[in-house]
Amino acid sequence: MTLQTELEELRQHARASLLKATDERVLNELRVSVVGKKGALTAILKNMKELTVDEKKEIGQLANQFRDEFARKVEEKKAALEAAAMNAALASETLDVTLPGTARKIGTRHVLTQTQEELEDIFIGMGYTVVEGNEVETDYYNFERVNLPKNHPARDMQDSFYITDELLLRTHTSGMQARTMETHDFTKGDLRMISPGAVYRRDTDDATHSHQFHQLEGMVIGAHVSMADLKGTLEVVIQKMFGADRKIRLRPSYFPFTEPSVEVDVSCFKCGGAGCNVCKQTGWIEILGAGMTHPNVIDASGVDSRRYQGFAFGIGLERIAMLKYGITDIRGFYQGDVRFLEQFGK
Ligand code: DAH
Repeated sequence: MTLQTELEELRQHARASLLKATDERVLNELRVSVVGKKGALTAILKNMKELTVDEKKEIGQLANQFRDEFARKVEEKKAALEAAAMNAALASETLDVTLPGTARKIGTRHVLTQTQEELEDIFIGMGYTVVEGNEVETDYYNFERVNLPKNHPARDMQDSFYITDELLLRTHTSGMQARTMETHDFTKGDLRMISPGAVYRRDTDDATHSHQFHQLEGMVIGAHVSMADLKGTLEVVIQKMFGADRKIRLRPSYFPFTEPSVEVDVSCFKCGGAGCNVCKQTGWIEILGAGMTHPNVIDASGVDSRRYQGFAFGIGLERIAMLKYGITDIRGFYQGDVRFLEQFGK
């Protein structure tokens, strides 16, 4: 076989192998086996020494031609393989934006928080400041400063968690009356504050009782604050919470820190006053306690009760939320069951 034929066979072999090469590794192996130092072309050219000068020249030219052509074809094939790999990657990594995403659950604010903030918004709109107190309170502020001296029988109504003889979990938010009054600068205007938060009483938990619950205390003290202001204020707040056509009713009651004291009822928002299961057939629902602040409470804060008077009220947040949303078991507020909480998502 002449060297020309051998070269031609190598060319055929190379062309066929190039067509079959499916990746760069195979392509590189092919290149080395054809034009590498120990490759087929070198092997063929080793036999050139037996040829005449003219023959050498011809074979040399053919060999160079082949080498150039092969190198070009390898480069072309390499580019084609790279493009194919890129296209495959693009196809396999395509994002299908029409696929449904993973739904993320967004929590809701707790229904008590919602109730508290709704009330806060109403009071802030009427010029009140929101102040926060501590849940651990002294006997002095929780009781004595709101006219419940040691051994006062009304302390019995608020069976308490004592930490020491003088320190307890506050039984109501009313201690904040004393704390804000004693720091308020009355030369700058009336005191108008609300104070929401958790309170504690030793109690057996059932559908309507909890040893921890939440109150919102309110107080307005100034030179010209009357019981008419109390009534008007509560009417506005209750109508904003329960509907514009609600009426309120004040019944005489007793609290040590107010004189006179009242309990406030709202006309039943279910039956409108005719009598139903919600209002226990009375047409009225008890909603909060209030009254004109007792002069002892004002004087104990270093404020002259002959110059400054006012009112206070205490609202149970759970009670408001239960009435507003028709919740029948107070324990739902504290169990963290999302099936309960989700119902109040806004
Ligand atoms: N502190 C009372 C309680 O926990 C609620 C209350 C009643 C607060 C009348 C007041 C008020 O400020 O005037 O039962």
